[in-house]
This record gives sequence, structure tokens and C-alpha cells, in this order.
Amino acid sequence: MIVMSIWCSSLSLSSRSLAIAVVVCLTLVYFSYSFNACILASISRSLQQSNLRNLLALTSSSRNESSEAGNSRSESSSSGSRNSSTGSTNDRLSSTSSTSAPPVQTVTSSLDGAPKYQLLRQQGLRPSRHLPDTLIIGVKKSGTRALLEFIRLHPDVRAAGSEVHFFDRHYQRGLRWYRHHMPYTIEGQITMEKTPSYFVTKEVPQRVYHMNPATKLLIVVRDPVTRAISDYTQAASKKADMKRFEQLAFINGSYSVVDTNWGPVKIGVYARFLERWLLYFPLSQLLFISGERLIMDPAYEIGRVQDFLGLKRVVTEKHFYFNATKGFPCLFKSEARSTPHCLGKTKGRNHPHIDPGAIERLREFYRPFNNKFYQLTGINFAWP
Ligand code: A3P
Repeated sequence: MIVMSIWCSSLSLSSRSLAIAVVVCLTLVYFSYSFNACILASISRSLQQSNLRNLLALTSSSRNESSEAGNSRSESSSSGSRNSSTGSTNDRLSSTSSTSAPPVQTVTSSLDGAPKYQLLRQQGLRPSRHLPDTLIIGVKKSGTRALLEFIRLHPDVRAAGSEVHFFDRHYQRGLRWYRHHMPYTIEGQITMEKTPSYFVTKEVPQRVYHMNPATKLLIVVRDPVTRAISDYTQAASKKADMKRFEQLAFINGSYSVVDTNWGPVKIGVYARFLERWLLYFPLSQLLFISGERLIMDPAYEIGRVQDFLGLKRVVTEKHFYFNATKGFPCLFKSEARSTPHCLGKTKGRNHPHIDPGAIERLREFYRPFNNKFYQLTGINFAWP
């Protein structure tokens, strides 16, 4: 009897141990299964995101290529003639534009049939168009195209390829129209647009503020004398019988009176235009990029831009090389091309010879405005 009872109690002890062991094993199997499933899901999600970025890059690069012609058309504006080019009067539209568009537009049904969008939808990803978070607002002929092409190397920046001119020329079309000109993005990507005439067009600061007071603003600036000559060179390249720079920049045939109504001269009075922007945006929302340093050390300036936009520093010196023939930094590869290339031939033109007396007089003219600009921005650009 005693033996029986010992045997029974030992049996019940070992079956309890067995039950505990089984429960422990099952728990371990369950946790290891869940853990592996989590890892697999996260790997698959990263792959989907990277596929999507590639697809969006392809979409946007083909659009950029087709819009290059449009760019050079819109960039050619009116600098050649007097009283022309600061985006004045007839460029401007009433401020009664519709601002009621919803902030997001997902891929539209007209695109749903395209294989790449079907693929994205199958992956449960919904790229959408957003109004821009960041604008390159100017300054014309200071390196705005270079800045855009360089910063869009970043996988988290998507940009409209051509200058949209929404805030200065097409404001009456409304925000829905504007958003439709933006590229598709996925969560976490920044939408960007560049139209250099925004900086000098009177109504634009208020309009941008109404779209989104948190908009970040990038402004490339360059010695205003070189900028004026660059502006003139562009206009002269389109008009065979253009007068000489010296004849257009001064009144009465001498170098004593600067023609401040001539677009290429007028645009260089940066402080005047900046003051209007500062009525709506704090200095902390503006980033000033040196056009000179964007040529000398593009990686440095692009580093600053990435920091300002809260982006990881992905675009670095590894992306650039100096092309001695062109005399400018060029790219090893970009969104649009996988081989080394420079900006188009309309960027980095040879400038005509300008009488040193005229240059000296213009430097003297700009000096107080430049000082005011240094004071407003807190940056000494050290222009001569
Ligand atoms: P020039 O063509 O007069 O030299 P924007 O893009 O705003 O129109 O500015 C054009 C200017 O960008 C050019 O003026 C050139 O000096 C400058 N620039 C800056 N980086 C450049 C680059 N990597 N390649 C070509 N031009 C560049």
C-alpha cells in the first residue's frame, strides 16, 4: 500500500512537470514565431518603401525631362528690357484665389490603370500629391537650379521639375491646381517647388503665408553685380540686337546714375524684397544659401540645407565632382541620369566683358543695400 502510494505521488509529480514543460515549450514557440513574423513584416515593409521611392523617382525623372524645355522658357523672362522683370503689375493676379482645396490628393483613378500604380496599390501604399512644405523662392540667376538639382538627390525630397509660378502668375487657379503640379510623395517625403520670381513679387509672401505659415523658404543669393550680369547674359542670348549692359544699367550714357528700374539691377536690391517676407515669416523659417559657395563647395551648402529641413545628411561630397571644362561642380548621378553630368548649357554661361568702371559704380551703388541685407539676415556674405 505504501509502495503504491509512493508510486502514485511520483507519477503525479512527473506528469505535472511534464505539463509545465509542455506549456513552457509552447510559450517559447509562440514568442519565437511572433518575433520572426515581426522581423519579416518589417523587412517586407522596408522593401516596399524602397521600391516605391524608386518608382516615384522614375515617374518624376521622366516628368522632369519633359519639363526642362518649359523651364528654360520660364526662366528666360523679361530681364532684357527696362522696367521689366521683378514680377510686376501684369504678372500679378488678384488675391481672391480659392484656398479651400483639401491638403492631400491620393493617386487619381486616371492613373490607377498604370502598372506601377497598380503595383503600389497591391503593396498597400498610397502615394499622394501634397502642397509644398518648402519653396525655393529665389533669387533668379543666383544658382536656384543648381540648388534644386542638388537637394533633390535626397530620397526624401520630391520636387516639381518645372517652375510652377503659382503664387505670381497662376494664383487665381487655386490651390487644387497648384497641388496637381506637385509630384507624388509617400509619408515622410518633403514636397518642394522652385520659382525664383516669388522672391521679388509683392503679393507672394502673403499668399504663401495663407497657404501654410509654416512653409520653409530657401533663398540663394549671389553678389548682385555678378547676378545682374548673369541676368543680362541670359536675356542677350535670346535677343540678337540687345544693347550693351553698360547702356542699360545707367541713365544718360554716363556711369553716374544707375537705372534702378532696370530688372537686372532692381532684383539685386535684396534687402528691399526681404523686408516684405519678414513681415510674414520669422527669420528662422528662411535659409540663405550663398550662390558663391554653392559653386565652390556644394556639399557644404547642401549639408546646411539638409539640416535646415530636418533631413539626414545623405547628399555629401561623394555626389559631386568639379568639371574643369565647365568650371562648375557637376553630379556623378541624379534622379534623371545615372551617368556623370553637369547642369544644362544655359547654366554657367560665359559672361560678356563689362567695363570695370561700370562694375565699380554698381558695387558702390549696392554697398549700402548689401549691408542692410547682412544686417537683416545676420550673415556677412562679403560681396566686394
Ligand atoms: P551663369 O550662367 O550666369 O554663370 P539660376 O539657376 O538661378 O538661373 O542661376 C544660374 C547660375 O547658377 C549660373 O549663372 C551659375 O553661375 C550658377 N551655378 C551655380 N552652380 C552651378 C553649377 N553647378 N552648374 C552651373 N551653374 C551653376
